[in-house]
Amino acid sequence: MLWRAPTTAVCLRPMVEHDIDVVVGLALAADLPNANRTSLEREFTLSFSCRQVAEREGRLIGYSIHWDLGDEAELHALAVAPEARRQGVGRALLRGVLLHAGAGPCILEVAEDNHAARALYEECAFYPQGRRQDYDGPGRSCLLMRHEAAPSAGDVAASIGGKGFGIAGV
Ligand SMILES: CC(C)(COP(=O)(O)OP(=O)(O)OC[C@H]1O[C@@H](n2cnc3c(N)ncnc32)[C@H](O)[C@@H]1OP(=O)(O)O)[C@@H](O)C(=O)NCCC(=O)NCCS
Repeated sequence: MLWRAPTTAVCLRPMVEHDIDVVVGLALAADLPNANRTSLEREFTLSFSCRQVAEREGRLIGYSIHWDLGDEAELHALAVAPEARRQGVGRALLRGVLLHAGAGPCILEVAEDNHAARALYEECAFYPQGRRQDYDGPGRSCLLMRHEAAPSAGDVAASIGGKGFGIAGV
């Protein structure tokens, strides 16, 4: 019989300034806009900016940044290291964002041809709200997506617990 090692836990924790260099590397690998130290340092000066990272065995493998604007949250960045994708890390980060957003809506923009991200957002009950033609350059349109009902803490724990995740807040 094949023996399988238990899933190694992934933990979410708040991003600290010490993480910036690794996060810039993740952002560059993910081809995200504003993938530079200056932009990330600025996030630490904004009272409404909420930042979290995902770690496995002490290695930072993903992060997210959203803005808590009171009546709604805006997701500005979400990325997972290429070698750690399709293991539930993006879903855990996104659910951490929704948990932090509480009962309010959460909105985001995603490139229309970003099928991986769109599949994740749709799975987490984000719905298209509109489309911006040529937003990221000629022929590169993006979708506006919106999530209405944030899950309860119990829902989040149940949905990520089965994959061995620990959650430490945003
Ligand atoms: C989008 C991204 C964050 C997803 O992270 P991830 O850790 O790979 O996603 P998960 O493993 O949590 O996937 C959760 C679900 O999303 C969907 N999904 C994720 N990646 C997918 C892909 N490449 N193709 C199809 N569906 C995908 C699936 O439904 C998946 O569930 P399953 O694996 O049980 O089928 C990751 O691909 C990434 O970092 N991409 C580059 C940066 C980026 O595009 N960020 C979003 C900017 S708007």
